[in-house]
Amino acid sequence: MGASPDPALLIAKYGGRAPRYTSYPTAVQFSNAVGQDQYRQWLKGLKRENGAVSLYVHVPFCDVMCWYCGCHTAVVNKRLPVMDYVGRLLKEIDLVADAIPERLDAASVHFGGGTPNMLTGAEMAEVLATLGRRFRFSPQSELAAELDPRLLSKEWIDEAVRGGLNRASLGVQDFDADVQAAINRVQPFDLVAESVAWLREAGVVSINMDLMYGLPRQTLASLERTIDQALSLDADRISLFGYAHVPWLKSHQKLIDESELPDPALRYAMQNRAADALEARGWRRLGLDHFAKPDDSLALAAADGSMRRNFQGYTTDAAPVLIGFGASSIGRMPQGYVQNHAAVPKWREALDRGELPVARGLAMTDDDRFRADIIERLMCDFSVDLASVADQHGRDTAELEPSFDALRAMEADGLVVLDKTKIEATRAGRDFIRTICTVFDVHLDREAVRHSQGV
Ligand SMILES: C[S@@+](CC[C@H](N)C(=O)[O-])C[C@H]1O[C@@H](n2cnc3c(N)ncnc32)[C@H](O)[C@@H]1O
Ligand code: SF4
Repeated sequence: MGASPDPALLIAKYGGRAPRYTSYPTAVQFSNAVGQDQYRQWLKGLKRENGAVSLYVHVPFCDVMCWYCGCHTAVVNKRLPVMDYVGRLLKEIDLVADAIPERLDAASVHFGGGTPNMLTGAEMAEVLATLGRRFRFSPQSELAAELDPRLLSKEWIDEAVRGGLNRASLGVQDFDADVQAAINRVQPFDLVAESVAWLREAGVVSINMDLMYGLPRQTLASLERTIDQALSLDADRISLFGYAHVPWLKSHQKLIDESELPDPALRYAMQNRAADALEARGWRRLGLDHFAKPDDSLALAAADGSMRRNFQGYTTDAAPVLIGFGASSIGRMPQGYVQNHAAVPKWREALDRGELPVARGLAMTDDDRFRADIIERLMCDFSVDLASVADQHGRDTAELEPSFDALRAMEADGLVVLDKTKIEATRAGRDFIRTICTVFDVHLDREAVRHSQGV
């Protein structure tokens, strides 16, 4: 083992920009080499006997723009574009389902965004009903939505829950009024508390809260207060995302005063302070940015090595197939990835022509699949046995030899421990897990990385 790591040196050396590895290869590698014809063929090969699939529905609308937002969304102030969008979504579900020879079981549905509760409760229930007609849900199916508490009402929740919704993820970010003002997202604690109470009353079985660190005006003390307040609401899971400041991609982020942003060293301290506060209360730290109570299903999956990573983050969902609906949504087939047109008009026009609205994708090679598994295990478990993954793929660890120089340097810096073919991130290395994964990424253009900060 090398010398005990100095955080400042590690940040300087390994805290650069790195992908979040919600897929490998990452979406940056997708191209128009995969389009609707390819997708149709892939859909045609899906069989019920190969197991349940997961579904994802993207809703690219919000009521007000949060200045930090990195999601694919736009502000709409009228109902018409939303109603129009829902109509096309129903059409897309039918088109996709028509292209699959059998009615498949669905293990989960995730509504993401944007803000899925820009749909009315009745519209949400209608989308769920259409999905339920074309796919087969069971009582165990997890039907989840990302929700903006500022737009929730008891009526909305009751309607969506009657339609099947049984899990929710609330966008909270930070409870501090000063921070909320600096990010243009004012939502008092009581408003969030009320939403949680309504969700529980309606029978929602699992509530996640999204929090963020690295926001303007945040301090270690204010972040700790936010964590305490979130815990007082008795959520089941907390996601703690590091603010990704990419104003060259998201121009509204220019409204954030960069002089108020914490520097990399403070971001690093924030992440660790928040993790310590949650762990001190008995919560488990899972993967890069998730926390859960020890008896939560995600914590149990992390403990037994079955946690997975997909476009929505960390999940218990082991389904090999993910079918995406809505503008910009990404799907994963056994053969590779597909992504819909990101711009709503293009997505809509394709549907109106009766086409699957696929813009791009990627057919995976065997080497991609091998590396995807290595990276997924590292992102989920912070450790991987290369020999066992190589065995599963009928490959040889010797193919990974070019990665070993970089790994040995990381070992000398105290980020990983290497034991023959086993790699284990140290406590310090966990904070740089994205950078550790880049060692196995043969697609990464190391000159042109424009991903967000690695810490
Ligand atoms: C689709 S939003 C959640 C639902 C809803 N739109 C809301 O904000 O309440 C997804 C989450 O991504 C996180 N997020 C958004 N922009 C981010 C950024 N630039 N960096 C890191 N996390 C971000 C926030 O925590 C946010 O709650
Ligand atoms: S964080 Fe959520 S509510 Fe805010 S702009 Fe982004 S998607 Fe919309």
